[in-house]
Amino acid sequence: MLNVVPLNGALGARIEGLDRARANEPEIAGTISRALAKHLLVVIPGEPMAPAETRRLAEVFGTPQRQLLRYKRSGEVPDVSIMVSTLKADGSTDKTAIRAEDWHTDDSYFATPAKATLLHAIEIPSHGGSTWFCNMHSVYESLPEAMRKRIDGLRAIHGYDTPRARNRPSARTPQEIAETPDVEHPLVRTHPETGRKALYLNPNRLDRIVGLERAESDALLDELADAARQPQHHHGHTWTKGDLVVWDNRATMHRVVIDYPVGENRIMQRVLIEGDRPY
Ligand code: OGA
Ligand code: MN
Repeated sequence: MLNVVPLNGALGARIEGLDRARANEPEIAGTISRALAKHLLVVIPGEPMAPAETRRLAEVFGTPQRQLLRYKRSGEVPDVSIMVSTLKADGSTDKTAIRAEDWHTDDSYFATPAKATLLHAIEIPSHGGSTWFCNMHSVYESLPEAMRKRIDGLRAIHGYDTPRARNRPSARTPQEIAETPDVEHPLVRTHPETGRKALYLNPNRLDRIVGLERAESDALLDELADAARQPQHHHGHTWTKGDLVVWDNRATMHRVVIDYPVGENRIMQRVLIEGDRPY
């Protein structure tokens, strides 16, 4: 029996008793997608899948969308990316993983960012490497009323990179650069399925607020990022091999903790799901 079990924290639910081979049946797919809109994060335990199976399961949540960085796309199924965040002997790892250590939401540098991301654990280290999630509805709702009034209606510029981010992102090819001009998004967005408002922040990509001086914009963005750092809004996922974890980029941020042993593989398949223009 399919069971949606809420995690007792800031967000998330565990989907129990799912036969993944039946996930695309309309009634089952509807239950899982509604669980995602409500809980913002779903964890579906199971065995590691081949990219084609992951691609098929991703359709439960919408239409898969290819990742910007071509070098990560899997050759056989390009809608599925292979993300390697293994720590090398010299202590370094992939630049995308280093950036993912800081709170972010995926692909906000696109005019229509992915609505959801699927991450599927193929190989995981013996310990560490949790992924943390932040509920941006509850962050918004916890802001003082004066702050909510101040930010409602503000718009912000997101780019592939900003000097506000702590680390630099992976290099882009000329084609990838041409595909990622700066874009403008509302600072507070409405979830199209639930109507709830969320703070739409991305400390890795959000450069400035339209119409404010740089110093004022920086101070406001820092204050909002601090609000999102409060632990009551967070849930950490400890990975088990084969887990499929799906999050809603419209109302969450996430980060990985790179605290796992050197040389132990951490390999994930990743699928982005097409979204809509934030409003
Ligand atoms: C991502 C991401 C975090 C992780 O794939 O978008 O941020 O735990 N991953 O690997
Ligand atoms: Mn990410």
